[in-house]
Amino acid sequence: MPSSALISESGGLLWHAKALLRHRSLWSDFNNRIERFLSDWRAELEFGNGTKPEGLIVLGPSGGWCLPTQGFLDYFAHLVAVDPDPIAPAIFRRRFKRAGQTTEKDQSGPKPTWVPSTFERVLPALLTRHPNHAVLFCNVLGQLRYQDKKTLEQIEFELSQIKLALAGRHWASFHDRISGETKSANLHELEFFSTERVTTDTLAKRVARTGEWLDHLTESVLPEHSPRRFMAWPISRERTHWIEAGWVRRQPEGLQRGNASEGA
Ligand SMILES: C[S@@+](CC[C@H](N)C(=O)[O-])C[C@H]1O[C@@H](n2cnc3c(N)ncnc32)[C@H](O)[C@@H]1O
Repeated sequence: MPSSALISESGGLLWHAKALLRHRSLWSDFNNRIERFLSDWRAELEFGNGTKPEGLIVLGPSGGWCLPTQGFLDYFAHLVAVDPDPIAPAIFRRRFKRAGQTTEKDQSGPKPTWVPSTFERVLPALLTRHPNHAVLFCNVLGQLRYQDKKTLEQIEFELSQIKLALAGRHWASFHDRISGETKSANLHELEFFSTERVTTDTLAKRVARTGEWLDHLTESVLPEHSPRRFMAWPISRERTHWIEAGWVRRQPEGLQRGNASEGA
């Protein structure tokens, strides 16, 4: 196991230890909001006009600490999970294993095919291989600003290009937008909606009172006119992340150059 997998803030042992301690307490309100977001997206996939996906490619699921253990992933007939963290699959299996079911099949929960890599390396090949799968970025895109071999401008540009690679398919993302000290946050509202892009300045004016806030460079991940929701995630007692979540619907052939149909 590479040492980075043991010490990374967003994956590896440190992340799992924090997640184990917090997912049912400090994170439970945020996790409920993510569950609602995913359930709304699932309803859109089921009852919206677009073609239903044949499976789901999940990027950065980790042990699924922020994902509902029932309901959402079960909807998809086939799952592919991409995460470089070598301990993620075992923790995921354990978290999603179901007690109280009679058959072994029911107990095992969703069984993704794991790809131990970064999505940047493997997503193009996975999209080609699974042309009718939906894609979910699972609280991962806001982490890309920590790559030290690229400038912030490069990272922001690459994040803004992801939607082009996903044109013509169902996809969704929830990701960090800004983060800062909880004592500097304005937490009068823990969730709000917007029908279009919210600039980082506007977001900061709304959710931050004082102090320095880190820009996670994800302002242009979702298409400009895509509805979205914002949720507070108290990652620790001291720090709060504001997460943006939205989805983009696959357009039928011939409509892909027109307005995308999207939701939050
Ligand atoms: C903040 S955690 C996500 C939390 C996760 N969705 C959950 O429910 O527990 C970020 C995850 O993304 C993974 N990750 C980081 N960079 C990645 C990349 N470039 N491609 C895929 N996964 C990545 C990390 O290993 C980690 O498991």
